Order: sequence, then structure tokens, then C-alpha cells
Amino acid sequence: MTPVALVTGASAGIGAVVVRLLLERGWTVYAVARSAARLEAATSRGARGIVVDLGDERSLEVAVRRVLAEASRIDVLVNNAGYGEQGAVEDVPAAAARRQLEVNVLGAARLAQLVLPGMRERGRGRIVNVTSVVADLHLPLGGWYGASKAALGALTDSLRQEARPYGVRVVDVRPGPVSTGWQEREAEAVRWVSAGGGYSGVADRVAARALERGSASSTPERVARAVLAAATSPRPRDRYFVGRGVRLAHSALRLLPAAAGDALVRAYLAGPPARPGPGDAAGRRAGDKVAERRAGAEAAGRATFPLRRAAPIR
Ligand SMILES: NC(=O)c1ccc[n+]([C@@H]2O[C@H](COP(=O)([O-])OP(=O)(O)OC[C@H]3O[C@@H](n4cnc5c(N)ncnc54)[C@H](OP(=O)(O)O)[C@@H]3O)[C@@H](O)[C@H]2O)c1
Repeated sequence: MTPVALVTGASAGIGAVVVRLLLERGWTVYAVARSAARLEAATSRGARGIVVDLGDERSLEVAVRRVLAEASRIDVLVNNAGYGEQGAVEDVPAAAARRQLEVNVLGAARLAQLVLPGMRERGRGRIVNVTSVVADLHLPLGGWYGASKAALGALTDSLRQEARPYGVRVVDVRPGPVSTGWQEREAEAVRWVSAGGGYSGVADRVAARALERGSASSTPERVARAVLAAATSPRPRDRYFVGRGVRLAHSALRLLPAAAGDALVRAYLAGPPARPGPGDAAGRRAGDKVAERRAGAEAAGRATFPLRRAAPIR
């Protein structure tokens, strides 16, 4: 019987590669994202596209019902979709913070709830949750995104123990930086959300480091291969760390006192620029582009980033 996978975040980055790898292995793949147009690359390869917003619980239910009606089961759920709400905890508006948790945590958790009954009944199945190194390593101005990934990691740990007696394996794929344009978007968002306020100095440093990280990132292909191993290996690991220092960050930060972890982060943000790497020119170009777009937008009196800063009580 052809195995069936439901992959979220299938229109770009890691998810697009996961879809391709599963299709190459002959799987039936349901590819999820918010727009049919952005799913065209996946559907033209043979995936079946489903337009869903992870923040909309109803659309998740409709999607799973459709897959079960067409394919009668879901063998693997890959919870990969996600985005990063950047900016100081104080600056990010409550609605934006809530949406971050709805999409990155509650959407993934709801999908797990929807596929589990069938998996438990069949006595087999896999749920692969793509978390992040930021589940362990919390930088300033990444609090809301980090909270979402730490929460997803915690849910994954509980779910792994709950589901295993039923033959369902729940796996955490935990990447460090991945070259999907993420770091450029992070730098732009951080500068935009926390520019001109009390955190603008640290915002500039966080943004500069994000752009530098681009040169040390894993390829989406590498992360997708870890997802594939998590989804198909007869004996998957509980957690796949992908990228330099990700496993170390996970272990070390649990043992270090908070003050020592904070000191390491401070030194990292304040330190000299990282050694030039192959991605640095691209990082600088992206940085220039961000500055240009911001200057243009400010001159035209509009925001390039669809976020407003949280307002204090007066
Ligand atoms: N890139 C990194 O450095 C990095 C590092 C560690 C972990 N991760 C995690 O890896 C996952 C994939 O990252 P990536 O770099 O491949 O991201 P990406 O290139 O930005 O792609 C994100 C995917 O998620 C989908 N998505 C975003 N918001 C959605 C929503 N509300 N409803 C449905 N789909 C939504 C997007 O689809 P549409 O926009 O087309 O709807 C897109 O397919 C994320 O969970 C991210 O947190 C990334």
C-alpha cells in the first residue's frame, strides 16, 4: 500500500524539499500551505495541494477530513510550517504574539490530535515536529518565536511518551540556522519591530548576527533528509539535531546556570564579526536590501513589515 504523508509548510524552504523527497520514494503526499499558487511547485511534481492556514482550526479539520476521505489514512504527519515573530517581548503586539503561538504550536498540536485516532487504531504512524535550536537557546528579541518552539518541543516530549505504547512514534527534528532566507527575514523584522525604541541597539546587533548566521547555515536539503529519516527509518531517533552546535546547545544550556548562558549570549552579540564565510556577501547584500527597503518605505510613509509596535499604557 502506498504510504500517505501530510506535510505542512510545503510551499517553500524545508517543507518543499521534504515533499520532493517523499514523492521520489513513491509516497502519496498532501502538501499544505496558505496559497494554491505557492503550492504549484509541489503539485506539479505530483503532490496534492491543500490550502490551509495553521491558525484556522476549522481549515485544519477540513483538510484532515479530506485526506482521510481520499486516501483513507495518514501514515506520517510532518508539522513543519512555521514563522518567526521577531522583536523585543515588550514591542511585539499581543495579537501578533497570540498568532505566533496559534500557528507554530496550536496548529501543529491540533493536526496531531486529528491524525492520532487513526494512527492509534492502526497501531502505527509517525508525527514529525520541526522545532528549532531556539527551543533551547533564547536570544534577546526572539522571545515569542523561541517560546513557540520551546512549547512545541515540550508537547513533542509529552506526546512521544503518550503515543509510543500505541505504536505511534513522535519525533523532534531540531535544526540550527537553515538557508531558506530566514535569517534575512529575521534581520529585517527585528530591525523593523524594535527600531527607534529602547531596544534598537540590541536590535541592530541581533540583526547583524542573524545575517552572519546565514553563512553558517545548513541547507534545507540537509534538514529535509533528517525529516525523511524521522518519517521512514524503521527505528527513528527521538530527536534529530541538525547543524553545528545544535546538540551542544541543547545539552549545555540545561546544565549551565542562567547567568552563564546569558553571559555567553552577550559575548556572542558583542563580539567581533564572525570569520567571513561563503554566505557573507549574500548576507551583506540582504542587509543592504533591508536598509534600502526601509528607507524607501519610510520616505513613502508606510511600513515594509506588517507589524506595529505594542503600545504602552498611558
Ligand atoms: N530556516 C531556519 O533557519 C530554521 C531554523 C530552525 C527551525 N526552522 C523551522 O523550520 C520550519 C520551516 O522553516 P523554513 O525555513 O523552511 O521556512 P520558510 O521557507 O519560511 O517556509 C515556511 C513554510 O510555512 C508555511 N506557513 C507559514 N505560516 C503558515 C500558516 N499560518 N499556515 C500555513 N502555512 C504556513 C509557509 O507557507 P505559505 O507562506 O506559502 O503559506 C511555508 O511553506 C519552521 O517551522 C521553522 O520554524 C527554520
